[in-house]
Amino acid sequence: MAKRIFDVSWDQFQTLSLAEKTPYLMQTDGVPYHTLIAQQFGHSLLERLALLANEIRAIAKTRAGTEFLRSQVAHKRAMLYFSQPSSRTFLSFVSACQILGVPTGEVRDISISSEFKGESREDSVRTFSSYFDLIIMRTPEKGLAERMAWVLSNSERPIPIINAGSGQDQHPTQALLDTYTLLRSFERCGGLRDRTVLFCGDLLRGRTVRSLSYLLTNYPNIKQVFVAPGPLQIGEDVLAVLKAKNVAYELTDDFHAAIPQADAVYMTRIQDEWDTTQGESAKIDTRRFKFGIDELKLLSPRAIIMHPLPRRDEISTAVDSDPRAMYWRQMRNGMWIRTALIAMTFGCEKRIHEYFRHNY
Ligand code: NCD
Repeated sequence: MAKRIFDVSWDQFQTLSLAEKTPYLMQTDGVPYHTLIAQQFGHSLLERLALLANEIRAIAKTRAGTEFLRSQVAHKRAMLYFSQPSSRTFLSFVSACQILGVPTGEVRDISISSEFKGESREDSVRTFSSYFDLIIMRTPEKGLAERMAWVLSNSERPIPIINAGSGQDQHPTQALLDTYTLLRSFERCGGLRDRTVLFCGDLLRGRTVRSLSYLLTNYPNIKQVFVAPGPLQIGEDVLAVLKAKNVAYELTDDFHAAIPQADAVYMTRIQDEWDTTQGESAKIDTRRFKFGIDELKLLSPRAIIMHPLPRRDEISTAVDSDPRAMYWRQMRNGMWIRTALIAMTFGCEKRIHEYFRHNY
């Protein structure tokens, strides 16, 4: 599956639109080589991934199935390079690797890595590629995963990179698990079409919303409602994509008025780690952007409540026991969809389908 970006310099690559970058990131059979941006995932690929994830979670229920899965990618090793806080995304990738038999290594604390001695990130990543066959990375820096993918694809040891969160910009695998959760939630009642998805919270700096908003444009007639205090409202670049794709959307700061129309409410945390001046977020009145018992009463009985987690107080714990609270199941879905993505990246899709067909 060796893929090299031969024909474009880094300077040229950066000038490409997200859609133009996509072909450089894919393998010939339409599956990702590097997974960097949500724009790589069209409708048929999303459906393929969801199917594979469903099969994997069924196969993993038996001991024989677990052993089969563990033999799939046992010849590859993965490096988790997480220079930003993470517990769930990190552990879900570790679990996904374990399910497929992929041994893992990690660097999480830059202060004890050679970067601290002044090694460039390019050299660090090339070092990882000497020992590993996949890099899963989370960084506070927008565009760094892309840069590293370009560096590796032009090195003598190209290996794939999966973006596990890059700056305020993209979080493609979170968007995959969110889409998978929506697909599963609505599969018995008409599927993911003709729905309203409401996003609430820090929509300006939350990367999960930016990636998910794009993925939802792959499904028919999904209206997107963005509920946030003015200074944290969704970015113009996201809206430009929706306009170009003729997707219905609405911006509001009236959460209570918006809730009754929602089929899914996607809550997010205030991302104050991005504040440029101290206490900037604390000055914003976010009290009306929280989900508690009063909001539950306004929500349709068939709607679901999602959150990428971690939460602070934007969803009251009193909501947790309501059957519409989907965030814990959403998190577990992340492990299965990431397992499917890694399996697909390493060419195991067909074998898993065959095993499933023969045994289920
Ligand atoms: C999110 C992230 O890191 O972008 N969490 C996650 O990956 N599940 C959201 C957040 O930190 O608020």
